[in-house]
Amino acid sequence: MCGIVAYIGPREAYPIILKGLKRLEYRGYDSSGVALLDKDLRVYKKKGKVAELEDSLVGKDLHAHAGMGHTRWATHGEPNDRNAHPHSSASGRLAMIHNGIIENYAQLKSELIKKGYQFKSDTDTEVLLNFIEDIQQNNNCGTEEAVRIALRRVVGAYVIILLDKQNPDTIIAARKGSPLVIGIGKNKDEHFLASDASPIIEYTKDVVYVNDYELAILKADELILKNLGNEKITPFVQKLDLELAAIEKGGYDHFMLKEIFEQPDTIFDCLRGRLDAVKGTITMAGIQQNMDRLKNANRILIIACGTSWHAGLVAEYVIEELCRIPVEVEYASEFRYRNPIVNPGDVIIAISQSGETADTIVAIEKAKENGAFIMGVVNAVGSSIARISHAGAYTHAGPEIGVASTKAFTAQLTVLTMIALKIAQEKGTIDTARYTRLLNELHNVPEKVKEVLKLSPQIKRLAEKYKDAKDALYLGRGYNFPVALEGALKLKEISYIHAEGYPAAEMKHGPIALVDENLPVVFVATRDSYHEKIVSNIQEIKARKGKVIAVISQGDEIIEKMADDYVAVPEADELIAPILSVIPMQLLSYYVGVAKGYDVDKPRNLAKSVTVE
Ligand code: AGP
Repeated sequence: MCGIVAYIGPREAYPIILKGLKRLEYRGYDSSGVALLDKDLRVYKKKGKVAELEDSLVGKDLHAHAGMGHTRWATHGEPNDRNAHPHSSASGRLAMIHNGIIENYAQLKSELIKKGYQFKSDTDTEVLLNFIEDIQQNNNCGTEEAVRIALRRVVGAYVIILLDKQNPDTIIAARKGSPLVIGIGKNKDEHFLASDASPIIEYTKDVVYVNDYELAILKADELILKNLGNEKITPFVQKLDLELAAIEKGGYDHFMLKEIFEQPDTIFDCLRGRLDAVKGTITMAGIQQNMDRLKNANRILIIACGTSWHAGLVAEYVIEELCRIPVEVEYASEFRYRNPIVNPGDVIIAISQSGETADTIVAIEKAKENGAFIMGVVNAVGSSIARISHAGAYTHAGPEIGVASTKAFTAQLTVLTMIALKIAQEKGTIDTARYTRLLNELHNVPEKVKEVLKLSPQIKRLAEKYKDAKDALYLGRGYNFPVALEGALKLKEISYIHAEGYPAAEMKHGPIALVDENLPVVFVATRDSYHEKIVSNIQEIKARKGKVIAVISQGDEIIEKMADDYVAVPEADELIAPILSVIPMQLLSYYVGVAKGYDVDKPRNLAKSVTVE
């Protein structure tokens, strides 16, 4: 999810763009850049923070009344200077910034290479820009028309903004699937463009939200909207009524809530371009290229911390069930200091949202020294763990700003399940019927997550009811046992209530002594092969007056009658169920934290990425 800012008007463009990029820093990024246009077109870009870009520009010619800026969250190509935006076309006439993913960029790139084009970056953006220029040169047409023609062939999501050296009084923008807002200056003599209204709101509250398949041609004192068929569209001007803080959070009260509600989209993004339910295929280049090593692994070691470690526990159950490969899950902080046995035939799966967790980095470097093959399942493209790994798969969950990990966890489960399905299919340890059923179940997850999110008001009421608890137990069995651990961690880190997760059957080995009428016990009890057993566990708790809150499958009348409170999620295969059953846990911890008045985005004592021991 990149950040975009552009300006054209009587003021100096650079200060407006720079301030706008800083307004967009909350979106997360790994590099940034600006392009400035007047008598010439200048592009400045750099890996790292906007402040580093700013420092690097001291003394440069920054005068211009038209320009654009970009903060990049890498999807194609490592974060580095050459992959940063803006990109320049082969001739140098055009510069472009882009937010989104061009899914057919590889095909476009091969066509352009055959025509002799060379590329300076690894990005899909540069491919699209040269595709536009190629059309412009071959059709001898203007930039606006070349953009319209090119976009008819593009598959994917984009916001693009172009500057044309030969038209210094014009900015061209287009949108499909990614957000783009136009700000209209109070005196109608300047225009602003941005990914959201946060860079615009201090200058004007008159905005136009660009719709899919629309093109905007902006001059200082003119705004023209067109469709790809070159037909003019009357701009619908709206008054901004959100304050800056609310805009950054997409209208949600906190980033954590925004990211919980992003999960239908982030899981869809995780599946996109990989899982094809029609063809019944899962395409993951990094996995396919190393399939022999994966399917012949004598052991898989999963190394991670915190929530990512919980995702590893779910993956242990899934991989052993589907692939029949022994799996061990290790806390990175323990693994790195003991003298572990690691054999060259071992495969290590390193799971990390940030890709910068110090314990995980050191642990996998140690395993690598012992000859293990490292697979990274990481969210941050180009992060340390992604670079140390021999191969891997990105979770594409976008920047996760809330300290408590939510959308990254469900994206990790999605990726790990696809990896397990691919290995099992290659090994022949899964029959076609079950493979197809699970693949379709995964495909349907985003819609089922939307169903779960509709339970939010009910879960908020539960949070109000139990927010004063001093302790809590989270219990689950099988695939839901790691979800119980994750639910307990969420409650601890967001509401500071002491909570423990346990395998439900472990209660009788001691912890049940804790149970009395003051102890809420959360059961993750979606219908699965352990259902009969967990019903007994619930009875054990009820017999000791414990308060039972259950996450169940829709229609589970048995537990409905037993629980003091319950939340019913859509049915799903037990392997897939954790992706759904964790969401009520996320929402419960969020609403308890809010009810207790805590800063749920920045809980005390915690950092988003633990880059130190
Ligand atoms: C999860 O809510 C926590 N913020 C924390 O446990 C986190 O999962 C852990 O620090 C691992 O981080 P990583 O996934 O970035 O490696």
